[in-house]
Amino acid sequence: MSTQYTHDVLVIGGGIAGLTLALRLAEDVKVAIIAKGSLTESSSLYAQGGIAAVLEQDDSIEAHIEDTLNAGGQLCDPAVVRQVVERSAANIQWLIDQGVLFTREPSEDGSGGYHLTREGGHSRRRIIHAADATGRAVETTLGERVHAHRNITLYEQHIAVDIITSAKLGLPGNRALGAYVLDRDSGHVETFSARTVVLATGGANKVYLYTTNPDVSTGDGIAMGWRAGCRVANMEFIQFHPTCLYHPKAKTLLLTEAIRGEGGKLRLPDGSTFMEQFDPRAELAPRDIVARAIDHEMKCLGIDHVCLDISHKPAEFIRGHFPNIYASCLEYGYDMTLEPVPVVPAAHYTCGGIMTDNHGRTDINGLYAIGETAYTGLHGANRLASNSLLECLVFAEAASKNIEQALPRWSLSTQLPPWDESRVTDSDEEVVVSHNWDELRRFMWDYVGIVRTNKRLQRAKRRVDLLNSEIEDYYGNFRVTNDLLELRNLTQVADMIIQSAMLRKESRGLHYTLDYPQTDSRAAHSTILVPENYQRTTRQTA
Ligand code: FAD
Ligand code: SIN
Repeated sequence: MSTQYTHDVLVIGGGIAGLTLALRLAEDVKVAIIAKGSLTESSSLYAQGGIAAVLEQDDSIEAHIEDTLNAGGQLCDPAVVRQVVERSAANIQWLIDQGVLFTREPSEDGSGGYHLTREGGHSRRRIIHAADATGRAVETTLGERVHAHRNITLYEQHIAVDIITSAKLGLPGNRALGAYVLDRDSGHVETFSARTVVLATGGANKVYLYTTNPDVSTGDGIAMGWRAGCRVANMEFIQFHPTCLYHPKAKTLLLTEAIRGEGGKLRLPDGSTFMEQFDPRAELAPRDIVARAIDHEMKCLGIDHVCLDISHKPAEFIRGHFPNIYASCLEYGYDMTLEPVPVVPAAHYTCGGIMTDNHGRTDINGLYAIGETAYTGLHGANRLASNSLLECLVFAEAASKNIEQALPRWSLSTQLPPWDESRVTDSDEEVVVSHNWDELRRFMWDYVGIVRTNKRLQRAKRRVDLLNSEIEDYYGNFRVTNDLLELRNLTQVADMIIQSAMLRKESRGLHYTLDYPQTDSRAAHSTILVPENYQRTTRQTA
């Protein structure tokens, strides 16, 4: 029996983007947040380095804009970059007002200013942080506020299946009316009706075998938006973080770029440094360059990792700046204060996503996308470190203002059709899902990773086509489960990554192919995929 829930605004996702938007809206409207795990389980929770913002006299909006554009390989939208950077200080102040405790400069009476760290691609120190666990500080603070808010209803352990649109119901135009959502505990699919739906579902980095991301990052929002008729852009630009702990038992332990910002060196097993041969900025070059350099050294020397070394700094300094990373490494047998730590690159961030305008509006009326699931134009071909949390905050703010203005015009559809399960049965072959899941993540790692070729992409495309048809067949016949939904989404997103990579016949930013190793000035544009059901709509929102 399907239940129908009704709210003004349905926010899908409890990361920084979703929580910020919900809190900014909830003074005046009823908001529901659904999260597929516990509320705060998200990439946001694990963010380490911090949030880039222009906060000091010796920094400037222009300098932050220039660094972002330089990292982005000529593909950033300059107007969006300016919008985000200009709103950076105000959004950090908003977090401070919510109660987030950022790290301060040491001072006798505790009145020092905020400590700013440095990361690759930034021309100066501008990353505000809470030690080495910025995401945890922000998520727990916002999470507590959300829990306490009278106008916010939470649905944890709920996974959105698909957006309900007027087009899918055979009505004219294309407007979001709500979503079908699987309650993971009961196994039932419920109907959520809302005047506005917001995708804040994070990235798709679980599509790769090795990733810094938690299990929730399965590209659900990108796949749901695509199926609903939204265009998707720049999916070839997957960012690999250079330094993830290399240890058989450490699945996803990131070693923040701030370690290099504070003087950490990358070394080969013989102790020599190598980054200066690849870029004059050495360890502080943008991430695409550092990850590719590590990949190059590993392949040339046949080694399975390089090392990150900050042991030349005083032990007190290391423990003070990186208390959590220090403790985690110690658990795996490495003392950062005494020795280098083995590291490898891992999939970290999805630069592309659902196309939006500068209010977070998608191609579908009443459907917004914010945070990592969106493609706003900020990151171009390579995201500048610590610009992601900033984008989440600024676009949550922009979308909330737009939704507030538009909401009075949207009516609520109270009679949405329930989820139809009349033609499916329980699966008797769950192994299909787990097997396909492993296969997908492995071939994406092998063929669509840091260095690509035409041949590898063609191999990947053949495999993803086969998987997609097998999964669609399975999806049509069996009752949905969390794993099946995630696999279906991951496979569709993998296809978008491969297709976009095949379309880009040059190397730029995070997309590097041996067949076209040069950047081609004629290709300085985004890769846009258009779904079959795309309708060019006149936006009816504010
Ligand atoms: P997320 O934080 O990923 O949240 C997504 C939410 O959506 C989750 O609640 C999830 O459960 C929910 N969800 C997903 N699919 C569904 C569905 N189908 N139904 C219901 N709910 C769903 N960026 C920086 O700027 N600075 C940093 O220091 C930094 N450090 C990082 C460190 C790590 C280890 C990682 C993994 C990332 C880091 N990043 C950093 C990137 C940044 O954390 C993310 O890009 C950002 O947090 C994304 O926020 P989000 O709100 O868009 O998505
Ligand atoms: C890190 O702390 O190295 C991650 C920063 C980011 O992804 O922006």
